[in-house]
Amino acid sequence: MKHLLVTGGAGFIGSNFVHYWLNNHPQDRVVNLDALTYAGNLENLKDVEDDPNYRFVHGSICDGELVGRLFEEEQIDTVVNFAAESHVDRSILGPEEFIRTNVHGTFTLLEAARKHWGGDADGCRFLHVSTDEVYGSLGPDDPAFTESTPFAPNSPYSASKASSDHLVRAWFHTYGLPVLTTNCSNNYGPWQFPEKLIPLVILNALEDKPLPIYGDGLNIRDWLHVEDHCRGIDAVIQGGTPGETYNIGGCNEWANIDIVKLVCSRLDELRPGARPKAELITYVKDRLGHDRRYAIDAGKMQRELGWQPRYTFETGIEQTIHWYLDNEEWWSRIRDGAYRDYYRTQYGGA
Ligand code: NAD
Ligand code: TYD
Repeated sequence: MKHLLVTGGAGFIGSNFVHYWLNNHPQDRVVNLDALTYAGNLENLKDVEDDPNYRFVHGSICDGELVGRLFEEEQIDTVVNFAAESHVDRSILGPEEFIRTNVHGTFTLLEAARKHWGGDADGCRFLHVSTDEVYGSLGPDDPAFTESTPFAPNSPYSASKASSDHLVRAWFHTYGLPVLTTNCSNNYGPWQFPEKLIPLVILNALEDKPLPIYGDGLNIRDWLHVEDHCRGIDAVIQGGTPGETYNIGGCNEWANIDIVKLVCSRLDELRPGARPKAELITYVKDRLGHDRRYAIDAGKMQRELGWQPRYTFETGIEQTIHWYLDNEEWWSRIRDGAYRDYYRTQYGGA
């Protein structure tokens, strides 16, 4: 039986992971530490809150005292660190919080694990969830990022994640902490906060609002369904070699404009309106320092851990569009801010 500390478990990937883990490892204990920033939403976890193997703790990974107490109380042997400021556009507007959480928060967790596990880290794992954005931007004909591609982060977000990856690496080499790092490509799927491209486009199209495309719309991302990411993290926890990094991705590159057109045409069939949704496409000013292309070579995950995605992009995007159509209450409460009231109602205003 494992005792997991999942940080950022009320966010998009973290809440998918909490569901995934409780479903697939029902004997394990899952403690979710989340600061509930704008991106944290306990409504994502309504159906597991009464599970006796699950505990939610409201707090920050920067709070060393709290983190240390949780290691003691829960005898944590596995950390999965999702907690982060994660949106590139927000990092351009205000980078400070990114440095605090992504860098200092990761440092705080590493130190807590080192103190608690000491020389007896046998069977313990510290898995740090990172991004392909640490590798920078590819030209059209460059090979995909491998684990040995040099870091070249370009945004405050990716620079803060690269910094945290370096700390994790150093805690292995210096202190022998049993760390693992995963660098994953863009995720999509249920519970993604609707300021990221795919949910934003689905919801704006449903509401007949403009679909903003940055620059020429030809920037390329490599998309992976969030459940496949969760399965990849599981594979790395179970079979990964401490000190190693693993690239996770779907071998699924799409130009932004093509994804937006795909979503529009599917919504035209599922929710036909007065005019084709693609007419809502609006080109807007480009993002500062906008990376042109990301692509992940996930060969190491396949060769060493036998992992590969189960969703094709066609099945994944179809499932995702249907999820947003079926969960209007979830996203309308985000759009009008009501999701923030849920914590007070459920947990008595702490
Ligand atoms: P998200 O923004 O949806 O969720 C982040 C969660 O962390 C939120 O619940 C938030 O409340 C919490 N949080 C923020 N600061 C905190 C703090 N100081 N202490 C505790 N909790 C805090 O992000 P996401 O998209 O779910 O991404 C999760 C992780 O995966 C991040 O580390 C991100 O860098 C990485 N990642 C994301 C993607 C992607 O496409 N979304 C791809 C690769 C890697
Ligand atoms: P995003 O979902 O913010 O992820 P990331 O920046 O981490 O890759 O954006 C995905 C791509 O979509 C990125 O190239 C920026 C672009 N984009 C738009 O064109 N319009 C938008 O409104 C948003 C949010 C993103």
